[in-house]
Amino acid sequence: MQTLTQVLASQPLNASLTQVIHTLANSAKDISSAVRQGALAGVLGATEQENVQGETQKKLDIITNDMLKDALAQDSHVKALASEEEDDIVALNSQGSYLVCFDPLDGSSNIDINSLVGTIFSVLPAPAGDVSAKSFLQSGRAQVAAGYVLYGPSTMLALTTGHGVQLFTLDPSTNEFLLTDAAMSISPDTSEFAINMSNQRFWEAPMQSYISDLLLGKIGPRERNFNMRWIAAMVGDVHRVLCRGGIFTYPADNKDSKKPFKLRLMYEANPMAFLVEQAGGVASTGYETILDIEPQHIHERVAVILGSANEVNACLEYHGQHYDDQEPEC
Ligand code: AHG
Ligand code: MN
Ligand code: MN
Repeated sequence: MQTLTQVLASQPLNASLTQVIHTLANSAKDISSAVRQGALAGVLGATEQENVQGETQKKLDIITNDMLKDALAQDSHVKALASEEEDDIVALNSQGSYLVCFDPLDGSSNIDINSLVGTIFSVLPAPAGDVSAKSFLQSGRAQVAAGYVLYGPSTMLALTTGHGVQLFTLDPSTNEFLLTDAAMSISPDTSEFAINMSNQRFWEAPMQSYISDLLLGKIGPRERNFNMRWIAAMVGDVHRVLCRGGIFTYPADNKDSKKPFKLRLMYEANPMAFLVEQAGGVASTGYETILDIEPQHIHERVAVILGSANEVNACLEYHGQHYDDQEPEC
């Protein structure tokens, strides 16, 4: 089996980007072992603090953020970082060629119940000159690498550098990421959806209609039954979509008028959209392709609808967007 080092060497990447990916992967190994220690290391539970978005921080949100921050600070190729757990960007090495955005611990409500969590990251080219938050405001199309690490029954790294999506599994005996799927591909059709149904009454009309039709199953316009899954960690839900197809959505809702969207563009939606497109899927807000959004703020939030191409396009039809079906793969 090929190691991460061997796979990266086989891609047309420059040495500095390869180094940044190794820094992220090595940091994820350390996070994986902290997560696995769990209650034994006293890392579970909440802190007294809130992040910039008003969410209570778990101890592990802070520990994992610090682990990534420290590792990236040691990497001379990283000019600055933006994190879910940092109010502002953190300037690192002025000569660095890359900017890194990350969600150090996605699905942190799962941590105290020993369920799935992960890390999501996105690498952007660093513009020349002094770094500021504005340097990060590049569309997802500018990403040069993106991925997630899943701390599940096994630790997995899904990675794209724009050459498909490769999936690695951490070998616990050698602490090496080994290639276990060289080309992840999302089937265009699916009968599985993922959404937090408890928000149903707060969604916009198009999403209400789309989900109602899925729930009608065989007796409705879709003429087949759909199954539902919700892990409450985007990494887990997107991983399932990459493995066996599906549609995942966290749509707009009016539960809190000041917060119509839940997921963050720079370190959740964009990296996942890059992976999904590279695996043949579609990622949209309902009205706009996620990777084409011009960000206004590093902590900006967006609606997300992603996954199997034909199913996402079916959902987009309800939003007034029209697409031709992809031919099913033989
Ligand atoms: P985070 O733990 O980084 O704040 O992200 C949680 C996000 C995302 O991972 C997940 O899909 C969603 O929040 C879960 O939302 P609900 O609490 O509505 O289930
Ligand atoms: Mn998250
Ligand atoms: Mn998080």
